[in-house]
Amino acid sequence: METIITTSVKKAAEFIKKGEIVAFPTETVYGLGANVFNEEALKKIFLAKGRPQDNPLIVHISNVDQIKSLVKKITDSAKIIIEKFFPGPITIILNKNDVIPDLVSGGLNTIALRMPSLELTRIFIDECGVPLAAPSANLSGSPSPTTWRHVFDDLNGRIPCILKGPKCSVGIESTVVDCTKNIPVILRPGIISLEDLKKFFPIVKIYNPHKTKKPKSPGMKYRHYAPKAKVILIDSEEDFLRYKFDKNKAAFIGFIRVKDFKKSKRVSDLNDYAKNIFNFFRKCDEEKIEYIFCQKVSEKGLGLAIMNRLIKAANS
Ligand code: TXA
Ligand code: MG
Repeated sequence: METIITTSVKKAAEFIKKGEIVAFPTETVYGLGANVFNEEALKKIFLAKGRPQDNPLIVHISNVDQIKSLVKKITDSAKIIIEKFFPGPITIILNKNDVIPDLVSGGLNTIALRMPSLELTRIFIDECGVPLAAPSANLSGSPSPTTWRHVFDDLNGRIPCILKGPKCSVGIESTVVDCTKNIPVILRPGIISLEDLKKFFPIVKIYNPHKTKKPKSPGMKYRHYAPKAKVILIDSEEDFLRYKFDKNKAAFIGFIRVKDFKKSKRVSDLNDYAKNIFNFFRKCDEEKIEYIFCQKVSEKGLGLAIMNRLIKAANS
């Protein structure tokens, strides 16, 4: 199959209208979308990515009014998040309406909803005329794509169209929050942090997948992306100097850290870290890097999401 790369929203939307799938930019990572109501199109997403069918998709909307036709009820916790954080890098889980195909929800009775803040994404969804069910636009098992190039590297020949947009400004996937109950539960940390949510809720929980057998967010049970290199998390430059590894391979080392070890809580540095981490892992694989040293950050604010991705890369 030929993969067309276009900056034309109209041209890309034509593919969705024909029942095809399209990779598109968002502020977090690129998504691979299909018409949420078209089962044949949805199947193509799983096929192109090599994704297990019980891992549900996020439904992307361009307008808050679209929500009521997709869910049973908009809970109070959802109302607050919609009002305070939509559009933005956050996904809410609600009980789904019966019209939603099982392929979207992975057989669960819930649905994940997100309204991206990148205007280009919302214009694209509008042009398609339907909400778009979309996972990240990578091959299952590689890091989420943060540029159209990453999408091309993974999916060239497997999808008909890439809508070319900017490099993703956030660089890690959205915060996923279960809003089916009154107390919101963070299922996946992201740039909208626990602290951000706590400004509007007396209690916010963080879901711990190690405490239960059945994962709440099915995505959590799958092996996550890890670079081919050994990923070593370190606290300081001294840790790095102390680490014993084969000195003959010293040329094959990757190192990602915030600009200044001593001031690693600076917000702009954490944003840069998140923005570049998946890109960096992809580069390391291309360059056949054997050891990747990653600086640990404090698990506050965006730091929680960064550590979540780093720990997955180190443990997978
Ligand atoms: O930033 C993002 O969220 C990106 C862009 C494209 O929007 N999308 C993304 O999709 O990261 P994906 O499929 O890679 O991750 C979706 C996560 C998975 O962990 C999945 O299990 C979870 O959301 N999820 C989807 N529907 C769910 C549901 N009904 N209940 C619980 N978790 C759900
Ligand atoms: Mg993904």
